[in-house]
Amino acid sequence: MDNSVKTVTARAHVNIALIKYWGKKDEELKIPFCSSLSLTLDKFYTDTTIRPAEKGETSDTVYIDGVLLSQEEALRVRKYLNTVRKMYKMFGYIVVDSINNVPISAGLASSSSAFAALATALNKYLNLNLNEKQLSALARLGSGSATRSIYGGFALWQSGTNHETSYSVKVPYSNDELVMCIILVNKNKKKVSSTIAMSQSVNSQKYLNYVEENKQLLIQMLAAFKEDDFIKIGNTMQQSSDLMHQMINETGISFYEPKTVQIINKIKKIQTEIPMFYTIDAGPNVKVLTRKENVERLKDIFANEEIIVCQSGVGSYVKN
Ligand code: PMV
Repeated sequence: MDNSVKTVTARAHVNIALIKYWGKKDEELKIPFCSSLSLTLDKFYTDTTIRPAEKGETSDTVYIDGVLLSQEEALRVRKYLNTVRKMYKMFGYIVVDSINNVPISAGLASSSSAFAALATALNKYLNLNLNEKQLSALARLGSGSATRSIYGGFALWQSGTNHETSYSVKVPYSNDELVMCIILVNKNKKKVSSTIAMSQSVNSQKYLNYVEENKQLLIQMLAAFKEDDFIKIGNTMQQSSDLMHQMINETGISFYEPKTVQIINKIKKIQTEIPMFYTIDAGPNVKVLTRKENVERLKDIFANEEIIVCQSGVGSYVKN
């Protein structure tokens, strides 16, 4: 390791999947059954600073939002750092200080920004000089969805078959008129982690059907981008979300709260008139894809809710 770089800070933004990733073929390497596609958002991000641990420390130290994690709480990050240590011969322990501008573990994809920021910081700290694809693969080892937050705008995570081939690429589509509005139903930590819920889905008899249908939706989405057809993009996104939650419900789990269902029903009712489409992750919050021109109407319709209007965000980067 080059010791000239002592402290590195990197920022990565959250991404929200339009075509969902749900289920791993390989738990360790986080190789998914399906490719997925996302939009990186401008408003939610993680800033992660890493520095060498004090002499004599016997493990990595992790702070999240200023709070020191116990060894147990830090297990996921410590395991990740151990993997990186083995892979890239990183000697010595480090201190990770992560500040989230996003509620964590609430289905707002905080792990996507967290591990993308950490991987981006490690790339600089260890002088790895990884290209974007390699960096995306490194982020994936921490959290599957993080593989897409290396890129700004739309990203496609190609499932691949091993560490080298499972990474994201940038999707050459942009549309300045698109916004993703987050309707906050509940900011608290979710009850079931996506890792546990995913593994239960993978063991379900219905899982392979799910995979086939989601693969078709990705093809449909890429066609919608090519045709620049917003209605098709929105409908396809909504179908992928419904499909994932049907799959999850098969295992007796639901991430929806009553309010989530109310919001979904309202959107379904008005979307023929005002084009807006929903997607939901492993938590109760609803993300609505629409055009800028519809934002005021959306705010009127959901006047009692907290809404955060997001646009396309940039890819991860080192700040110092
Ligand atoms: O990578 P994880 O464990 O945060 O899984 C994320 C899964 C979903 O957010 C539900 C879907 C996705 O593609 O981001």
